[in-house]
Amino acid sequence: FSKYPENTIVQRPIIAAHRGIPSIAPENTMSSFRLAYEHGADLIETDVKVTKDNQLVIMHDDTVNRTTNGTGRVADLTLEEIKQLDAGSKFSAEFAGEKIPTFEEYLKEFKGKDVILLVELKDTGIEQQVIEEIEQEEMVDQVVLQSFNLESMILTNQLKPEIPVGYLFSAAVPGTKSAKIKNSQKMLDYGTNYNVTLNASYGSIYEEFTTYMRQRGILNMHWTFRDEAPFADKLKQGLIGPITDYTQWLTYSPIKI
Ligand code: G3P
Ligand code: CA
Repeated sequence: FSKYPENTIVQRPIIAAHRGIPSIAPENTMSSFRLAYEHGADLIETDVKVTKDNQLVIMHDDTVNRTTNGTGRVADLTLEEIKQLDAGSKFSAEFAGEKIPTFEEYLKEFKGKDVILLVELKDTGIEQQVIEEIEQEEMVDQVVLQSFNLESMILTNQLKPEIPVGYLFSAAVPGTKSAKIKNSQKMLDYGTNYNVTLNASYGSIYEEFTTYMRQRGILNMHWTFRDEAPFADKLKQGLIGPITDYTQWLTYSPIKI
């Protein structure tokens, strides 16, 4: 049944669809999430923020300016105001009328489907509310939460240890390399090993870090892959969890190792 010679080992990466599939549909919209799922994503990554009236919505930026036809900070807009915005037209006319999803809509769409939801908390102070909405949908076993804020993830782990948490890690974020490794160690020490991922940015993958991960058997969902050639190199180094804008490439491109 295999197109490869006998005894060939083919490692298919674990694919996290970054904000849906923004190479072919507007980021963080339901069309983008559905297309990512149809293209075979193993995880669908997204970003959660809170509105002026304390509703959880899907949005990467602090403002709606870049991705919609509106202006203003998410924190200064109500859900009703946010729902009036067009989150598709700036990407292309084909997606005109696309709405900013609520966190609840995103959860409901994938409940019970064969995909994990990788949810980044872009605000602090929303940890309990995020957990409650996940519990409401009975999706505790279908979600991984992640943040650049270590304390937020430690709190999340305290509030709901059953939900895996990830510490996002980037060379672009202020702090020395050793401080970041220390934070990673702190995260690991805090939680149960199998419930923690350490998610390094593409540019932050260096030898000490990969060794550290390998020695402890921790999954590294690294971001953000936007071209195929470096991905093949990273896969050969044993990094298996790209968060990518191009799910359509990676789910159909098994790489021989
Ligand atoms: O999943 C990690 C990645 O999404 C973090 O960066 O800016 O795309 O949220 P950003
Ligand atoms: Ca993100």
